[in-house]
Amino acid sequence: MNVLVISSSPNTDGLTAACAAAAVEGARRAGAQAEEIRLNDLQVGICQACDDGWGTCRTEHACQVNDEFQALHTRVLEADALVLVTPVYYGEMSERAKAFADRLRRCEGTRGSESGLADKPVIAVAAAGGSGNGTITCLASMERWIQHVKGHVFDLIPVKRWTRKNKLTTIREAACTMARETLEKKTA
Ligand SMILES: Cc1cc2nc3c(=O)[nH]c(=O)nc-3n(C[C@H](O)[C@H](O)[C@H](O)COP(=O)(O)O)c2cc1C
Repeated sequence: MNVLVISSSPNTDGLTAACAAAAVEGARRAGAQAEEIRLNDLQVGICQACDDGWGTCRTEHACQVNDEFQALHTRVLEADALVLVTPVYYGEMSERAKAFADRLRRCEGTRGSESGLADKPVIAVAAAGGSGNGTITCLASMERWIQHVKGHVFDLIPVKRWTRKNKLTTIREAACTMARETLEKKTA
């Protein structure tokens, strides 16, 4: 049983990193294997809208733009649950998160109920470390994304600088509960 925590800030010791660490800690507390993958350490480019707008994402459910997306796509399919942690940029997810999410949605959203994320629980975390504005718009688009790939919206967690302490506890607890319930289902 493994939980993948995907983060997308260039900072290794900021608010986003703390949120990702809390998610890893919570999932491990439930007995799951958990690992953070930092999108900023990977080469995952933007969707090229190949051919007439759809490339092999529609027909083969695989992206034809070769970079580190393919390996990460496999990791996501292998995971039992996901936590997506993004810094809020202009009220949206980070560019890194968007690039990855866009390509994954094309590959998996086109599989309908056969999506590799079908019914997989996903927690989305939006870390707004500046003005604190934009968590809701960011989480709204993350929620839509989870729905497009047929995942289960386990929780949507807004974080501001001044709610950091409370929200790290919330993230830890949410990841722990998600991991525990997923583990129970797997072993039932
Ligand atoms: C391009 C850009 C746009 C940002 N927009 C917002 C925003 O809309 N709301 C907000 O609270 N913070 C905003 N921030 C601050 C980030 O949410 C974040 O706190 C900051 O980049 C520090 O990142 P960290 O989470 O790695 O600590 C923005 C930062 C950048 C670089």
